[in-house]
Amino acid sequence: MQRCFTLTIVRHWALRKKLLTISYQQSAAMSTLLINQPKYAWLKELGLSEDNDGVYNGNWGGKGEVITSYCPANNEPIARVRQATMAEYEETVQKSRDAWKVWADIPAPKRGEIVRQIGDALRKKIKVLGSLVSLEMGKIYVEGVGEVQEYVDVCDYAVGLSRMIGGPVLPSERPGHALIEMWNPVGLVGIITAFNFPVAVYGWNNAIALICGNVCLWKGAPTTPLTSVAVTKIVAEVLEQNNLPGAICSMTCGGADIGTAMSKDERVDLVSFTGSTQVGKMVAMMVQERFGRNLLELGGNNAIIVFEDADLNLVVPSAVFASVGTAGQRCTTTRRLMLHGSIHDVVVERVAKAYKQVRIGDPWDPSTMYGPLHTKQAVDQYLAAIEQAKQQGGTVVCGGKVMERPGNYVEPTIITGLAHDAPIVHTETFVPILYVLKFQTEEEAFAWNNEVKQGLSSSIFTKDMGRVFRWLGPKGSDCGIVNVNIPTSGAEIGGAFGGEKHTGGGRESGSDSWKQYMRRSTCTINYSKDLPLAQGIKFE
Ligand code: UN1
Repeated sequence: MQRCFTLTIVRHWALRKKLLTISYQQSAAMSTLLINQPKYAWLKELGLSEDNDGVYNGNWGGKGEVITSYCPANNEPIARVRQATMAEYEETVQKSRDAWKVWADIPAPKRGEIVRQIGDALRKKIKVLGSLVSLEMGKIYVEGVGEVQEYVDVCDYAVGLSRMIGGPVLPSERPGHALIEMWNPVGLVGIITAFNFPVAVYGWNNAIALICGNVCLWKGAPTTPLTSVAVTKIVAEVLEQNNLPGAICSMTCGGADIGTAMSKDERVDLVSFTGSTQVGKMVAMMVQERFGRNLLELGGNNAIIVFEDADLNLVVPSAVFASVGTAGQRCTTTRRLMLHGSIHDVVVERVAKAYKQVRIGDPWDPSTMYGPLHTKQAVDQYLAAIEQAKQQGGTVVCGGKVMERPGNYVEPTIITGLAHDAPIVHTETFVPILYVLKFQTEEEAFAWNNEVKQGLSSSIFTKDMGRVFRWLGPKGSDCGIVNVNIPTSGAEIGGAFGGEKHTGGGRESGSDSWKQYMRRSTCTINYSKDLPLAQGIKFE
């Protein structure tokens, strides 16, 4: 009895201490949230506050776990978001499917008009939204604005497309018959995006999916929830002003639970996933299990190949932009720089010199060229990769250390001397480490380009036209993006974006990527009084 009582007291005090600690933490967090500081008052222009709803389906909600979003440049809390519960996910899917019934009946060019208005609304907020991307993701301000620009551009593209999508009328072999292709929307498109492009990747999917007649349900990365909320507020306002159901563009903030639910849900007709190859494979298996459709944008291990005749004045800034830009956190980042033996040393020297001139600082400072990594875990991955590279025979010629300043800053790093097939060279580590490889022949360089599992982006630098066309041909690059005399990153929205092999095979944004968001029907219409059969079969 005595023991029992003592235990109760101990529990009581433990609980009190815990509650006190929690309330202390909460008040500390409240007083230090960046959103409450005058310097960051502009966040309110995006409709953000200390606590934000992380669910939108025509109404705002969020009864799930509360997450705090941190700024990678100083690891200070910005504001909080209430994520979706499973019940809210369920409700949102139902509302989205109801909204589809309205949206699918609207003619495509009129849907284009709504997308035009979304593009215009984004234009008005481009600087402030770009600043939020910079604050929350950690990329530099011009890149933050740049990715909102990508969404704007794809809206413009989608508006034009809304009057162009369609199928051919094909010659029928039967008299009095018409053979036509009809394209219809798939229905509900689930969009799961990554932290590194928290606006643009949603934009590519959203604008194209909408003009095709689909409704969208978005789950952004759990570490960039404020950007998801801010974008959804802009889109929601356009829908509401047009008296359209908000659930045409729904959002459920959350983690793997929501992602898994979307992947397994038969009501989600297409799952568009951007992220790691490892998670993408899990998504693909769950979607395939139910014979759903997926669109995958997974990892890259992109190479720039520099031949002896290359214009080095193009090579050096290209290599620096593509390896240091976004602190090495694009799927199109250059991770392998292959240099012909005759120019190896001079290029390494020039690129290393340029690395040292990269201005490192707060990402939102307009003169900064290089900001922090997104998370602390990425800093650990950076250090582990450098260690492995050294063990596998690499030499660090530039960088290699975590920087002594607040935030997740690491030095952009160049490593030489590794074998083309060293395990670390074949691994995509999402950090600014560039492996420099030395080759002798074109055949060898093309083979090394293709020997990795991923197949996203690739570039050669040369003036030899024969080589250019060999590079574009069947024995050239096996990637989805094949460039000449430009870097591996920085693709325009007008082309189809995506890659082969472990990159997942999906194509988004321009060209005929819209077909991924639609289903095709082959339709044969008999307008004669006879019933001729195909292949000349007589059945009488
Ligand atoms: C990504 O890294 O996820 O080509 C996408 C580029 C950008 C898109 C990158 N337009 O670098």
